[in-house]
Amino acid sequence: MISQNTIDSVFETARVEEVIGDFVNLKRAGSNFKGLSPFSDERSPSFMVSPAKGIWKDFSTGKGGNSVKFLMEHSQFTYPEAIRYLARKYNIEIEETEQSEAEKANTDIRESMYLVSEFAAKYFQDVLLNSEEGKAIGLSYFKERGFTNETIKKFNLGYSPETWDALTKEALGKGYKLEFLESTGLTIAREDRPFDRFKGRVMFPIQSMSGRVLGFGGRILTNDKKAAKYLNSPESDIYHKSKVLYGIYHAKQSIAKQNNCYLVEGYTDVIQFHQAGIENVVASSGTALTPDQIRLINRLTRNITVLFDGDAAGLRASIRGIDLILEEGMNVRVCSFPDGEDPDSFARKNSHDALVAYLEENSKDFIQFKASILMGEAKNDPIKKADLIRDMVTSISKIPDRIQREVYIQECARIMDISEQVLVSTLAQLIQKDIAEANKKQKQDQKPFEVHRNQPPKNAGFSGGDPEDPRTGPPDDYPGEPGYYPDAPAEKVNILYGFERKIIEILLLYGSVVENFEDVFLKADEEGNVKEVSEKREYKVFEKVYLSLQEDEVELSNTLFQNIYNNIIDFYNQNETFSLDKYLMHLQPEFAQEVTNILMEDERVTIHNWEGQNIYPKHKSETIEQNVSETIFSMRWYLVSGIIAELKNSLLTDPQEDNSEVLSMVVDYSKLLNNFSKKLGRVVVPYH
Ligand code: CTP
Ligand code: MN
Repeated sequence: MISQNTIDSVFETARVEEVIGDFVNLKRAGSNFKGLSPFSDERSPSFMVSPAKGIWKDFSTGKGGNSVKFLMEHSQFTYPEAIRYLARKYNIEIEETEQSEAEKANTDIRESMYLVSEFAAKYFQDVLLNSEEGKAIGLSYFKERGFTNETIKKFNLGYSPETWDALTKEALGKGYKLEFLESTGLTIAREDRPFDRFKGRVMFPIQSMSGRVLGFGGRILTNDKKAAKYLNSPESDIYHKSKVLYGIYHAKQSIAKQNNCYLVEGYTDVIQFHQAGIENVVASSGTALTPDQIRLINRLTRNITVLFDGDAAGLRASIRGIDLILEEGMNVRVCSFPDGEDPDSFARKNSHDALVAYLEENSKDFIQFKASILMGEAKNDPIKKADLIRDMVTSISKIPDRIQREVYIQECARIMDISEQVLVSTLAQLIQKDIAEANKKQKQDQKPFEVHRNQPPKNAGFSGGDPEDPRTGPPDDYPGEPGYYPDAPAEKVNILYGFERKIIEILLLYGSVVENFEDVFLKADEEGNVKEVSEKREYKVFEKVYLSLQEDEVELSNTLFQNIYNNIIDFYNQNETFSLDKYLMHLQPEFAQEVTNILMEDERVTIHNWEGQNIYPKHKSETIEQNVSETIFSMRWYLVSGIIAELKNSLLTDPQEDNSEVLSMVVDYSKLLNNFSKKLGRVVVPYH
C-alpha cells in the first residue's frame, strides 16, 4: 500500500497540464490549454485542461477529472498505478505501508505482471553489463552495432543467457510468482520444469507510452536460418501487439514538440535514430500500422513520415498500409533510403546534420510519391494504368478533408497525365460508396436513445455528460442557458436544476472564502416592538450556503446534487483548509464526473469561441458575496413563487368552504417574495 503521505505529495506536485502534456499535444488557450481529445477521433479540439483548477475535461466524450483520473482513463492504469507513475515522474519517493494479508492477495494481477516484466528487464540488463557471458556475447554484439553505453541504458537493452531457466529461477528466488512469469510469457510452463522463453538472445524491452515494460523482443545472435530472427512476447493482459509502438515512451515528447513522427520498421532503427539525435521516431515492429497505433501517434501530432528501406519489394508492401493512416486524417509523407540501406544503417553512417538534411530533402508527400512510383511501373501499359488510377483515387478518397482531396486530384492528374474530370468522377463514385457503407453501419450500431432536439449537437461544448449516452445525460429538462441554445422553449427549462448546480459550483470554487454577508434577524427594542434588523457578518461561503439552506429547510431536489452537496459540506467541516486538488482526490468516482462537469462549465465558453461560434459568455457576478447571495435568494424566490402558484392553483381546482387560510398564506408568501425581490435588487419575472 502506498502511504497517504506519498499520495498527498503526489497530488501537491503533479501539474495536470504536464501530466497530460506527455500524451496530448496541448496548446495554450487563455488561462487553459486545449488539444485533440485522446478519447475520440475528433478533428477539432474539444479537450480542455485547466491548470488553475487542476482538472481536465473532454467535451467530446464527457469524461473529465484530475491528473490521476486522466491516467486511469487514458492509460488504463489502476489508481495505485497512476500514483506510482506520477511519483516516478516527479521523483517522489514512494513510502509503502504494510499490506494486510487480504490486500496482498488482492494486489492487482496486471500490476504483478508489470512488476515481473520490470524485474526481467532489470535482470537482462544486469546480465548484459555484468556477467561474463553477457559482456562477451550480448554487449559485444551491441557495441558492434555501434550502440553506446548511454543508449543501451536508455533503452534498457539486455541479454538473456543461454541457459534453460536462468530468469525463471532468479525471479522465483526473488519471490515473483510463477503464475505471472507465465502469463507474461517470460516463462513457458512444463509440468516437470518451467523454462525461459528467451535464451541466448539480446533483449529489447517494449515500453508503453507511460514507460512501463509490457513485453520483449529478443534477437537471436547466430545465423541459424531456421530460427526466427526476433522472438517476441506473446499477447497478454498487458501486451497487445497491435496497440503499442516500439519507442513511443522515449519519443512522445519529441513528437509533440517537432509536430512530426518518423515511422520505421525495426527496434534497431529507432535506437540508431535516437543515437543520431533524432528522437521523434517509433517502430511498427515489422507490420503494417493498426488503427490503434495510428491513434497513439495522432494524439501527439497530425504529421507522420514513413521511412522505407531501400528495396523496392518492401516499398510496395508498405504503400498498401498507408491508406489507413490517411483515413485517420493524418498528413503522410514518405522517405526512402538509398538501395541497400535501412534507417539503422543510414543513420549510423551519417552525421546528425547529414541525416536531418537527407530526411528534409527526400521526404515527399505520400500521394505524389505513390503516383510517381506507380507511374514509373505502369508507363505505357493501359491496363496497369487503369488499375493505378483506381488505386490512387482510392487513397485520395480516404482523406477526410475535401479541399485537400481536390488539391491531390489536380496533382495526380498532372503526374499521371490524365484529365481531372476522370479522377473527379471516379472519386465521387468511391465516396458515395463509402458514405452508403458508413450509413449502413451506423444504422446497425444505432443506440435506442434519441438525442433531444434542444440539446446541442455533439462536440458543441455541452457538459452535462455524453449526449449519446442516456446514462450520463442530463435530465430531459436540462436548464439550457438561453445564450447556449437559443431555440430551447422556455417551458422546458428546469430552473431549479440550474440553481442547484450553481450551488455546487459555488461550494467548489469559493467554499472556504470568507465574505461579509448580510444577516437579517428580528430584534425586540426596549418597548417590546419587534423589528427586522440587518447586520453584516463574516462567514465562510460554505457556512453561509449551508445555514441558508437549513433555515429554509431545503434539500436539493436532484439526488446526485444532494449527495455531492453533503459530501462537500462534510469535507469542509472535516478539513481546516480546503484545496480543490485534495477534495477531488478523495472524491468517489460516481461524483467525479458531475463535479468535473460543473467545474469546467466556464471553460466551454472558451471552447465555443475557438470554433468561432457566436456564443455569449455567461454573466458573472462582480463579487463572490454577490454571487452567493444572488443564487440563494433567487433559489428562495423560485421556491416560494412555486408555493404561491400551487396555493393559487388549489384555490381553483380544490376550493374549500372557507378559503381564508389559504388566502392568508398566499399573502404572507407574497410578502416574502417581495422581500426577496428587494434583496435581489431587481424586478423578477415570475417563473411559474
Ligand atoms: N520482426 C519480428 N520478428 C521477426 C522479424 C522481424 O518481430 N522474425 C520485427 C522486429 O520488430 C524487427 C522489425 O520486425 O525490429 C523489422 O525487421 P527486420 O528489418 O528484419 O529487423 P531489424 O530491426 O532491421 O533487425 P536487425 O537490424 O537486427 O537485423
Ligand atoms: Mn536492420
